[in-house]
Amino acid sequence: MKTRFTEAFGIEAPIMQGGMQWVGRAELVAAVANAGALGCITALTQPTPEALAAEIARARELTDKPFGVNLTILPSINPPPYAEYREAIIESGVKIVETAGSNPKEHLEHFGPAGVKVIHKATSVRHAVKAQSLGVDAVSIDGFECAGHPGEDDVPGLILIPAAAAALEIPFIASGGIADGRGLVAALALGADGVNMGTRWMATAESPIHRRIKEEIVAHDERSTNLIFRPFRNSARVVKNGVSDEVLRIQGEGGQFEDVRELVSGKRGATVYETGDPEAGIWWAGQSQGLVGDIPSCAELVERMLAEAAEIVGRRLPSLLADG
Ligand SMILES: Cc1cc2nc3c(=O)[nH]c(=O)nc-3n(C[C@H](O)[C@H](O)[C@H](O)COP(=O)(O)O)c2cc1C
Repeated sequence: MKTRFTEAFGIEAPIMQGGMQWVGRAELVAAVANAGALGCITALTQPTPEALAAEIARARELTDKPFGVNLTILPSINPPPYAEYREAIIESGVKIVETAGSNPKEHLEHFGPAGVKVIHKATSVRHAVKAQSLGVDAVSIDGFECAGHPGEDDVPGLILIPAAAAALEIPFIASGGIADGRGLVAALALGADGVNMGTRWMATAESPIHRRIKEEIVAHDERSTNLIFRPFRNSARVVKNGVSDEVLRIQGEGGQFEDVRELVSGKRGATVYETGDPEAGIWWAGQSQGLVGDIPSCAELVERMLAEAAEIVGRRLPSLLADG
């Protein structure tokens, strides 16, 4: 399937695996790349820029297809050394970066001259248009359904995607709530050039998380998320469990970030993926859990999505028009 997105980034399928803290490691990214889609190593999962360079080298041993790196730029009291991570990406020779979290301007000034193409992920049309004006090569527009940070506007994909299509000139992909070929066709119909997924990739054979967590996702439905941190204007869609329920209770009673800091620690969340205990901390997955029914390999998943999309576009939809 060819779109402006596959053409711009030299990939076969218009499907991306965006930044995934703790999960976006070499084995998943290489499997996504080998399946013909665009995988991204999550830079900040690696403790240092040197470790990121080593992880990129590890992915290169597993695939000769193109892949990218996600650089998530979040406001922080003690920010990671973003410039050093950026330099590690440029020096590694990776030519595709997904930026997310805040304005990528400072980084674009370095990636552009180094020949690195940038896909900026935004949760609103105005931020997507801003990124376009800064010169990014593509945009990923992340709807309210998504795992992670959906922003504060609460606009779902069915509105956000066509609104973005009307406002953007550069290629863009739809993100949030997409997990199968139907979602891919819907995104294309709404004007996108492809899709980005997070949750769906978690439940694949190559995703480097505990099997029990993949099975949890399969067992969950579309209601299995909590939207936490709304009072702190940093909304986050996470899996509904005892820990995120407790966060909602505390913030609902007027608690501040300090009151939930221990509950939401990233270190604690990482033990979920390592030990397979879904109650060990906060972990990320979106409403699309309700669409995930098995744990295929990445190659099977991409093949199935493309076949399903071809069936819908080639047979089901034309058949609606057939006899007038
Ligand atoms: C486990 C997990 C970790 C994520 N970590 C990040 C991250 O570090 N940076 C980022 O930009 N997006 C992150 N995301 C968001 C995804 O890149 C993607 O935008 C989102 O999952 C799309 O929604 P979906 O889950 O419905 O497919 C994460 C998603 C998941 C499921």
